[in-house]
Amino acid sequence: MIFAGVLAGGIGSRMGNYTIPKQFLLINDRPIIAHVIDKFIVHNYIDYVITGVNPDWYRYMLDIKEKYYKGVDKLVIVPGGSDRNSTINSIVEQTKKMSGSPDDILVTHDAVRPFITLKMISENIDAAIKYGVCDTVIPATDTIVYSENKEYITDIPLRSNTYQGQTPQSFKVKLFEEVYSSMTDDELKIVTDACKMFMLKGHKVHLVEGNVSNIKITYPYDYKIAQIMMENLQDDMFTV
Ligand code: CTP
Repeated sequence: MIFAGVLAGGIGSRMGNYTIPKQFLLINDRPIIAHVIDKFIVHNYIDYVITGVNPDWYRYMLDIKEKYYKGVDKLVIVPGGSDRNSTINSIVEQTKKMSGSPDDILVTHDAVRPFITLKMISENIDAAIKYGVCDTVIPATDTIVYSENKEYITDIPLRSNTYQGQTPQSFKVKLFEEVYSSMTDDELKIVTDACKMFMLKGHKVHLVEGNVSNIKITYPYDYKIAQIMMENLQDDMFTV
């Protein structure tokens, strides 16, 4: 089966004074997380959409399901974990209950990137089937400056070799289980990115082309930009 995993275990602390986590804020009268779920619901290859939600907001998410997805069997909600990878792991556990086939694929996506396109989802599925694991990226436009000590530059990688990571990040469920179970507690504390985890354990993470419009809502400024973008990009996102 092919599962989508919508990652909504965070509380959006960098957003400042909002009373609800950023994934529940509205754009065009619809929660940001619903804009994300919509894409996976309409995508023909996705069998189930599993949303990992912060346990304190579990009931709130059930209300969203009731309001926007009444009778939609494709949407499943599970409690998320204390960090991003443990939210993915909760979703993986749910896929095992629902299928458990060695061929299962999971397309994970941030609940706060509402401009994902159907094309990105299709290309992620293809790459995960072919290569085992993939990450969605765009070429870096700014020069990336690296500092190991936060005081001075320790490296400036060649710009043509640098990319900005987005999501989806997609993989064979079986491979995730192998990698996640081999992580030590110390490794899990440092490594918050799923693809970094795969790399650490010797897997080649294939690149899939993202889009500059696939922004992550992190700060209030991003929320303002996203509201303006939604007016103009609505149709493009549903183009296959
Ligand atoms: N996420 C998750 N489980 C966690 C932490 C984060 O599923 N325990 C998800 C977030 O809900 C978000 C995505 O990972 O959709 C990207 O993370 P980020 O933008 O850092 O979200 P938050 O952790 O909510 O934000 P902040 O770091 O500002 O608190």
